Amino acid sequence: MVEDSSGLLRGLLSHLGFSPRTFSEVILVLETGRGAHVQPLGVKLKGSSLWARVFKSTRLHEHLRPSLRGSLNITYDPRAFFEPVIHGRLLSLEIRESPLGPYLASCDAVIFVEIAEVKEERAFSSVFFKPLGLIIEREHPLAPNRAFPALVEALVHLTRIRHHARACDVQPVEDLAKKVRACVETVRHATEESAYLDMASEILSEAERWVYLVRSIASLPEKGVYTLVVRLGKDMEIRVGALGKAKLMAGYHLYTGSALGKGPLGLKGRLIRHLSRIKKVFWHIDYLLREQEAYVETLIVAESQFKKECEVNKALMEELGAVPSVLGFGSSDCRSGCPAHLLYAGLSRPVEAIERVYQRLGLKPILIEVGRWR
Ligand SMILES: Cc1cc2nc3c(=O)[nH]c(=O)nc-3n(C[C@H](O)[C@H](O)[C@H](O)COP(=O)(O)O)c2cc1C
Repeated sequence: MVEDSSGLLRGLLSHLGFSPRTFSEVILVLETGRGAHVQPLGVKLKGSSLWARVFKSTRLHEHLRPSLRGSLNITYDPRAFFEPVIHGRLLSLEIRESPLGPYLASCDAVIFVEIAEVKEERAFSSVFFKPLGLIIEREHPLAPNRAFPALVEALVHLTRIRHHARACDVQPVEDLAKKVRACVETVRHATEESAYLDMASEILSEAERWVYLVRSIASLPEKGVYTLVVRLGKDMEIRVGALGKAKLMAGYHLYTGSALGKGPLGLKGRLIRHLSRIKKVFWHIDYLLREQEAYVETLIVAESQFKKECEVNKALMEELGAVPSVLGFGSSDCRSGCPAHLLYAGLSRPVEAIERVYQRLGLKPILIEVGRWR
């Protein structure tokens, strides 16, 4: 193999999936002098060497010393990972001998290595493997890493969280959020790649948001009146179904509605629907909330067995000086003469003033902080 000063070696290793920032999971086969030691190992590319952390608690740690030879094997055969961990050795896979050292017979590619350096750290030893030779057994071999499957797994759990959140099922949302946390932890252990870490953080924060929201919303009464405090980042013109084009000013818009039915028609179902970005656009408010610049910052909710939305809406106009955001918005079926059920309340946060309006009307407001998220 070309001397390690050559970029060619580094290029070859990158091509096989090794990276300086992400651990690749390979099978180490090391000739210890007392037979071959086999185990899975995470390695990163450091210059044109491959680097691993070997924990002091492992059997491998006892064997480590410079100039030992062996191989790092790329394989997707689960038995190569399973058997060394569960049985301490390979049972069903063959180890083959070669002049450069032992290797796994059935793998996709082999990098023959020599231990160049062992550095003692606190809980582990840093081991630098110098590549000596290469066998490529399959077309396009690629060393697996844990960051990618863990990220995909976290995303799958998140999609299931959204599904259960729509039904306001707290327990499955909490159980799935635990799984998301575990996957995100795996991503953070497996890679330093900022693209992965940023995506993992975003997935986690959405999962945590759902846990908070579903817990908060699940404890709400079944029927009642609510005001969505919607923050709009900039002046916008949007299309609102049959209303046509509507101009909306940056700042706070208040959408008041009531939910007096059961299940999806009750308060919980309605509020979860308002907070889900992914849904079939039906109500006027759906057109606004699908915009990236618009989000529900706070929910104000109160129990009520009767339709109170128009009373609250009118009081918000009188007491906050809120004005219709767009004439007719959300009030197509209003029989109390409301000019709109979406009101513009200006640029400063109106939450406390809304609470006072609810209280004056004899309602007990409950606040849920939603904040900006997808
Ligand atoms: C995918 C995978 C990656 C691993 N990576 C490492 C590693 O980088 N460093 C390490 O010390 N142990 C690592 N292990 C754990 C060792 O493989 C494990 O301790 C060993 O196989 C069991 O032998 P032991 O009885 O000596 O611990 C890894 C295990 C798996 C399944």
